[in-house]
Amino acid sequence: MQKKIKRVALITGASRGIGAAIAQRLSRNGICVLAPTHQQLDISSTRAIRKFLTGLKKPVDILVNNAGINVLGGIEELSDKAISRMMQVNLLAPLELIRGLAPAMARRGYGRILNISSIWSMVTKPRRVTYSMTKSGINGLTRTLAVELAAKNVLVNALAPGYVNTELTRQNNSSQEIEAIRKTIPVGRLAEPAEIAEVAGFLVSEKNTYITGQVIMVDGGFVCL
Ligand SMILES: NC(=O)c1ccc[n+]([C@@H]2O[C@H](COP(=O)([O-])OP(=O)(O)OC[C@H]3O[C@@H](n4cnc5c(N)ncnc54)[C@H](OP(=O)(O)O)[C@@H]3O)[C@@H](O)[C@H]2O)c1
Repeated sequence: MQKKIKRVALITGASRGIGAAIAQRLSRNGICVLAPTHQQLDISSTRAIRKFLTGLKKPVDILVNNAGINVLGGIEELSDKAISRMMQVNLLAPLELIRGLAPAMARRGYGRILNISSIWSMVTKPRRVTYSMTKSGINGLTRTLAVELAAKNVLVNALAPGYVNTELTRQNNSSQEIEAIRKTIPVGRLAEPAEIAEVAGFLVSEKNTYITGQVIMVDGGFVCL
């Protein structure tokens, strides 16, 4: 009988929320999960990313670009620092991690890359200009890399959650706002991180053999209204 290969996954921002749920899901699926803390891998620094990648002991088969930030602000409120930090953490860091890991995946003939996007890459609301920019950028990055890497069996997708019950949502919305939002979601509630992780688990698995270059919305029907 052929021995099953134990795949290795690197997940950013897995200390809590969606990242932690994806790490749990992949571990339960028998995958070896590398989940560096913010201190071990601060993706706001390109130099730190390169140093981290150089120190990796195992080849990485699966990359989940999950860590993200959302500093709210209208066009006249946002500081230069907030704009460049969001561009770096949400968009340039995922690209840097892909640049560091995808060539070896392609040489080995196997890879799964998942970028965590957002519904705000498709629809938007005020004070999300930088966040929407970066998440729309992630969708473009996903599609282009998918076509570049498909022939090497490296599949690249984005997962776009709607409102999820995490710190990030509570940080940017009061409990009254969350209650008002809940009423606008067709399924009548926010997603739990485990529901996002379930879809992520499939997209980065060996069972996914043909989905690439897609932005999969997991939003309880929110953008359909
Ligand atoms: N929550 C939602 O409703 C929602 C909806 C759509 C998309 N998303 C996206 O889903 C992803 C996860 O969101 P979440 O709600 O789980 O967020 P969260 O609860 O705020 O968790 C974010 C994670 O990212 C890490 N992180 C932040 N900045 C980092 C940096 N510079 N370097 C390394 N790690 C860093 C945090 O680590 P520390 O705790 O150590 O800072 C934390 O582990 C994000 O990309 C977000 O944009 C979320």
